[in-house]
Amino acid sequence: MCVTSMNSVGASETTYRVWTDDPGSFSTQRITPMHHNFHEHPLFQVPELVRLGMELSKLDQCRFMNPDRTVASRLAHDSRPPDGRSIAEFFKRVEEPGSSVAFYNIEVIPRYQALLMSVVNSMRSLVEREQPDIFRVNGFVFFSAPPSVTPFHIDRENNFWLQLHGHKILNVWDHRDRSIVPAEAVEDFIVTQSLQKVRFNQAFLPRGLEFDAQPGDAVYFPSTSPHMTRSTADRAATPGGRLSISIGVTFYTASTRKVARIHQVNRLMRKCGMSPSYPSESPTADTAKSAVGGLVGACRARLGAARARFICMTSARRVKHAPPPGSY
Ligand SMILES: [Fe+2]
Repeated sequence: MCVTSMNSVGASETTYRVWTDDPGSFSTQRITPMHHNFHEHPLFQVPELVRLGMELSKLDQCRFMNPDRTVASRLAHDSRPPDGRSIAEFFKRVEEPGSSVAFYNIEVIPRYQALLMSVVNSMRSLVEREQPDIFRVNGFVFFSAPPSVTPFHIDRENNFWLQLHGHKILNVWDHRDRSIVPAEAVEDFIVTQSLQKVRFNQAFLPRGLEFDAQPGDAVYFPSTSPHMTRSTADRAATPGGRLSISIGVTFYTASTRKVARIHQVNRLMRKCGMSPSYPSESPTADTAKSAVGGLVGACRARLGAARARFICMTSARRVKHAPPPGSY
């Protein structure tokens, strides 16, 4: 990927922004290489990001991954560094090969919430001409010292993925390619958050897009696009090569909510022995299910809350009852 002139179109007038070379053809349904200059923002410099990590660790929002994982591993993480180090010690030695930490939901820190909004706002008009009602803008920062990988997985949200520091290779596949992730696996993930059926195979590699990203490079990819990342040791000797930092700025829209509702209704129909169409297979069915899905979600949330209240009254157990984020 290469960085183009700051005069490219498709962005707002703010100093820091994300933009595309060809705004006319931007589609929320398509993986799109983009550019950004947020890597120059003072809050995205390494010392500030380490400070952010220390703040988030106190809120239990840092996640550490096992250094032995591969792109085919299960996406699993822990709230403590895997070798028993303290979090302060972890950051002190963060450039040691294989170190890896993700900061979850950085929007809880107000100075970063404003920054995430400016990422989304610089592309808002292009997103909302296809998918109105952007909501729940979240940010996830990924630190990794090569060699390091993020295993193959899908997410619920649309994603502006930005490389901030060092290098990273991002592989992304079309979210509609059922030879990569079957429709039933997507439904499982949306309804139960299980990635059990989302499995990597080396044969997938030529069927996706690969981005060799450096600071200033960005990629937009739609909700449920399969993806994974690698930072490789061969770049460790290059400037900034000992540490790779990227950020995923994620968001939901009326469209992602509609698809989630269809999956929820489909799951109920399957429990009743039916074989409903998957999202996008039947526009008429999609419209009906989306309307019903809103009611199902509201009922599910109420029933869940009532169940939680009952359990709280009868035992000390706490239960998780909220529907998955962005579903309803
Ligand atoms: Fe992801």
